Amino acid sequence: MPDQSVTPHVTPRDARTQVWVETAAPALEGRLATHYALANGYLGLRGTHEEMPDWASPGFYLAGSYGPVRREIIPIHSPDHILTHPERVKPEHHAEYRTLTTLVNLPNPVAVRLTIGEERIDLGAVRILACERLLHMAEARVTRRLVIRDGAGRKTIIDSERFVSWADRTLLCFRYAVTPDDHDAPVAVVPYITSGGHHHPSQRCHVRQNVSAEGFNQMTISLPNGCGVTIAQAYTVRREGRATILDVCISVADERDHPEAAAKAANYADARAAHVAAVTAAMRRVGASIDADGLSTQGFNFGLLHLEMALPYDNPAVSVPIKGLTGEGYRFMVFWDTDFHIFPYYLLTNPAQARNLILYRYGQLDAYRRFAARWGYNGAQVPWETGATGEEETAPWLCLPEREIHISADVAYAVKLYDDLTDDPSLLLDAGAEIVFETARFYASRVTWNAAAGRYEIRDIGCPDQYHTFADNNVFINRMAKFNLAYAAELAGDARLHAVKAKIGLTAAEAAAFAAIAGTLYVIPPNADGIIEECDGFFNLSTDLRGISESFCSHTQAVKQPDALLLFLPFGEEYPAEVQRANWRFYAARTLHGSSLSLPGMALAAAGCGLLDEAVDYFQRSARMDLDDVNLNANLGVHLAGYAVLWETVVFGFGGLRATRDGLHFTPRLPRRWGEVNFAVHWRGCRLAVMLAQGTMTISADAGNARTVPVWVNGEARELAAGMVGEFTV
Ligand code: BGC
Repeated sequence: MPDQSVTPHVTPRDARTQVWVETAAPALEGRLATHYALANGYLGLRGTHEEMPDWASPGFYLAGSYGPVRREIIPIHSPDHILTHPERVKPEHHAEYRTLTTLVNLPNPVAVRLTIGEERIDLGAVRILACERLLHMAEARVTRRLVIRDGAGRKTIIDSERFVSWADRTLLCFRYAVTPDDHDAPVAVVPYITSGGHHHPSQRCHVRQNVSAEGFNQMTISLPNGCGVTIAQAYTVRREGRATILDVCISVADERDHPEAAAKAANYADARAAHVAAVTAAMRRVGASIDADGLSTQGFNFGLLHLEMALPYDNPAVSVPIKGLTGEGYRFMVFWDTDFHIFPYYLLTNPAQARNLILYRYGQLDAYRRFAARWGYNGAQVPWETGATGEEETAPWLCLPEREIHISADVAYAVKLYDDLTDDPSLLLDAGAEIVFETARFYASRVTWNAAAGRYEIRDIGCPDQYHTFADNNVFINRMAKFNLAYAAELAGDARLHAVKAKIGLTAAEAAAFAAIAGTLYVIPPNADGIIEECDGFFNLSTDLRGISESFCSHTQAVKQPDALLLFLPFGEEYPAEVQRANWRFYAARTLHGSSLSLPGMALAAAGCGLLDEAVDYFQRSARMDLDDVNLNANLGVHLAGYAVLWETVVFGFGGLRATRDGLHFTPRLPRRWGEVNFAVHWRGCRLAVMLAQGTMTISADAGNARTVPVWVNGEARELAAGMVGEFTV
């Protein structure tokens, strides 16, 4: 018997594949425009209503199109702010503000003028009887059903759909269908490109040309860097029964590429089919799924979708901004979030594109050299926040650029991961080694010798835990710097790198100095109880955490995010599981989660040392970061890095993967409450699909793999040739 409950219009919603909401409440629009944002690494579109009501929160962004932000809009904060000190906020310092940038918010082409009878529909004036929005995660498309009663009392149903194409990254399309429900008044619907009224007031982007013809609109804008970008919108309107249907195809590109031809040639149905096929192929490549509670699964899948939507394709001039292309938080800057937290996701799911994220850093290396020199150091220092230029763009009142110095080693770490886990030595030879040598030079000049203790130290730093921004010898910073120096010393002995060393004048003596510094660089060890002190003196800080806040906690052991636990992914083998567990418990009690990186980081750390119930708990909470607006800032865009860390929790934590140059080692530990997890690993030119269920792990080598992959599951070794499936009891 057919299942009577399932018909096209009575299909139960599925939290694993959909995100939905039934409200048009203006107060929620900022957050909802993020939830329903779509992107393809080149274009990003916030999920605003097509009718562009006054309360809309539109955003339409083109990767890399940064323009200046007026310095007046960057607030000078109070001297009590945790990330500053009184000197830094003096008014005279204001005058030193450099020009900071953000992505230009372009005129929005997903906009319609709807007229019913004589009435121009304004969502602020009509009665909204229903408003349902759905994000279809498996197809990266958004649909909306809106039911309105207009000023003349007529009821009308409006169905729309949109996608930002993954098949043609210059293309986005929308369909808008208007069906009179209880009237026969004429319906007119015309798309337009907003005039730019929603531009950030500080961005200089002027409309150079505006063309309208039958079935076509086009706007050419001058970006602040002088480039012309054309937004071309081709459309058709037709009747189908009682419905008036508008199909719109929009192409956006450099004006010299004439996107108007592409927009006119595109056809909605074909573009939609190509897009859905591309999304399906990408998700198959990623191959990740979890069978957990509905809310965790929904958040995890939302995160995967956003990670895929944020990745630029074939363009090393840009990287993955902190919130992808979904919102204006942190001005689309690139942070360590990308190099340390997100990079492993891309590396193991899409190595060819992950490569560009390192090339992006390499392309900015000269700016990083100047940045190190500015503080009197050698080599290259990666700025804390940067966009297109490689210049430091952190607001100058924040004492972070000269203090959050782990980011340089984070980039070097990404280079090592890439070189170990792909079969592409060219990145190391052409770009990576130079980054590693120059960042090692930076640390070699940044350390200080403590003669009394007979060791090198790194003083006067800002912990990644930003509640302790004025500290010495942070354990994560020192360990990462030690890694960077040791790796540079090792690479200096690689005969293939002769030309690189000659280019930058790296001598054998300098390489030996790197090794010597790495050998004696102090990394705080666990104490007698196994607890790792985050930085010098941390144990002496107050444990009275009552009534503290971000502006009043640096005298305490409260942390924003737990730095010691960060060590356990890259350097887990140096810390026994019981030490990891002891630190997890110690820092869990002290962590305020002021950063969205904190909850997923704790999930990952818990999974890695077998605290599975705790891992599931933190996983759940961080999976809801945006959809439940946990940190009350989803309006500013999604928290991308957190989603990458959730994927890492599944792969490195529950899957227990340790990927090395020699093969893939798994120590699986699936939470009791979870059914099964799947993930794919791209390793040295091969792809493997991993399925972990209660009691079994199955690893399938793709038929197209060019070589045999060594795998170990709980120490049991197998060689998986192309097409082979390994079954393991776990
Ligand atoms: C965190 C940083 C992070 C930044 C962007 C801050 O709150 O402390 O570690 O890089 O947010 O996510």
